Amino acid sequence: MTAPELSERERALIAETWSFRGHAERSATLRFQRLARELRECGASPIVIELAEAAIEDERRHALLCDSVAGAYSEAGREPSCDVRTPSPLGPSGLEHADRLLFEVVAFCCFTETLNTAMLIETLKHTEEREIRQTLQEILRDEVQHSRLGWAHLADARARGRGAFLGQSLPFMFETSDVEAIFVEDSRRDDPRLAFYGELSRAQRVGIFCAAVRDVVFPGLEAQGVATEVGRAWLQERGIELGA
Ligand SMILES: [Fe+2]
Ligand SMILES: [Fe+2]
Repeated sequence: MTAPELSERERALIAETWSFRGHAERSATLRFQRLARELRECGASPIVIELAEAAIEDERRHALLCDSVAGAYSEAGREPSCDVRTPSPLGPSGLEHADRLLFEVVAFCCFTETLNTAMLIETLKHTEEREIRQTLQEILRDEVQHSRLGWAHLADARARGRGAFLGQSLPFMFETSDVEAIFVEDSRRDDPRLAFYGELSRAQRVGIFCAAVRDVVFPGLEAQGVATEVGRAWLQERGIELGA
């Protein structure tokens, strides 16, 4: 397929997608810096610490890759925002430190990174533009490992009898991961021509979220003995149907 011509507005939309990703990657770099330190301090398994340390460099590299795509599509995309602070620890109050850390690793790696992986896989199916395709492939390769870090740490914690509280905290996890933003009505990327450049329509984003939670995140938690009923009910109350 030949590359569809883009209007200035469409180029700006693509740049916005990648600027947003660049910002998220910078924030993830800082989060993994803190997580790697905390995991080391709390005696996490060597493979988990190794994956967290590798993730710091991965995310730093991803941010630069995202900047490069953003800059190729708009003038504004050439000035990445430097206003990134270390994300504060995630977790419901009242947990002891090891559990709070476990919550954050599950929320960020088992949930967010798994979702990122699913989004990248689906996006790659449609993307034809060469630089964007290569960038997505490179980022995907690493995000799979970041998700793996979460599942490995959860399995270790469950083997030590920790983490039964996680089931009750799924609503908190969804809220702090801004799940509702995925469902916001935004049709600006719905034109199928934009798929050539790796843009997802709202329906695709919703479909990927539902499939990833239904087929990967919830089964993964259940396999570790973490109940998902409370999380399922939270989604249902918001009209989010995971489907069969
Ligand atoms: Fe990343
Ligand atoms: Fe990541």
